[in-house]
Amino acid sequence: MIAYFNGRFMEKDEIRISPDDRGFLFSDSLYEVIRYYPGLLFRPEAHIRRLNHGAAHLSLSCTDFSHLIPIARDLIRQNHLEDQDVLVYIQVTRGTAPRNHPFPDPTPDSTVYMNVTCFDPAAKDRQRKTGIHAITVPDIRWARCDMKTTGLTANVLASQQAIENGAREAIFIRDGVLMEGTHSNFMAVFDNTVTTAPLSNYILGGITRETVLGLCRDMDIRVAERPVYESRIHLASELMITGTTTEITPIGKLNGRAVGNGAPGPVAKALQAAFSSKIQQLQKQHPWFSPMKKGENSLKNSEKP
Ligand code: PDD
Repeated sequence: MIAYFNGRFMEKDEIRISPDDRGFLFSDSLYEVIRYYPGLLFRPEAHIRRLNHGAAHLSLSCTDFSHLIPIARDLIRQNHLEDQDVLVYIQVTRGTAPRNHPFPDPTPDSTVYMNVTCFDPAAKDRQRKTGIHAITVPDIRWARCDMKTTGLTANVLASQQAIENGAREAIFIRDGVLMEGTHSNFMAVFDNTVTTAPLSNYILGGITRETVLGLCRDMDIRVAERPVYESRIHLASELMITGTTTEITPIGKLNGRAVGNGAPGPVAKALQAAFSSKIQQLQKQHPWFSPMKKGENSLKNSEKP
């Protein structure tokens, strides 16, 4: 596989990252996962906006990563994955410097890494049709979950706890409120109103969440961005998670208890259908990338090896 590393395209296995990299030592590092549907990179500008938001808050040396969008497309093309479902993974770190907690002086260049992997949507499609089991766990994460940092130990532990309990996702509860999943946002339907935690420092502003709330508004489905309390969760007619890899996946059982009749409900199904037709519509609008001449690639001359 060809990957991108600090301005160069290279074989993924040949990439060498220093043990002094701050991403390795401190998780002083951000990431993004962008979905590519055949012919369509889905909302890359929104992902880059979120990455830039994190980079500005962390005072990384680079705070505008918009140049990575054509590079992502180029990487898909170089790996001959244009007709596949793909996940684009981007990670940027504060760079490499001898271990010391404060920001290094002089400021190192950010380490910038991107790879593409084939994504088999079949398993996720099945989960979308049947619904998944989820559990709740205490939210032991830090208080800047709006930044997509690679410090994911709490998410890893909760995700594993879900698997060990026969579930697919764990929903974090903070102060009695269901915040979000380990790698997804969380929504509940009360009285035909899609209800989800408001944006704050305690959740990630999901790109799928934003898309889904937009679809709700287009479809005249009521939306409430307000806390979903654990004490009222039994009153919800539907629960679902949203995310780049999960899209809109209904939760059929929470902590072993059926949600509604346990099957995907009408709101989730309507949103899934609207989401799929939006993707198809966008795929038609963007049949393929702007053509590049043979031998040309998206790197600026200064970045070429
Ligand atoms: N995770 N909340 C958390 C904690 C997440 O990690 C994610 C995505 C989301 C959904 O965001 P989006 O709709 O932009 O994908 C919400 C990615 C997919 C991951 O960690 O692999």
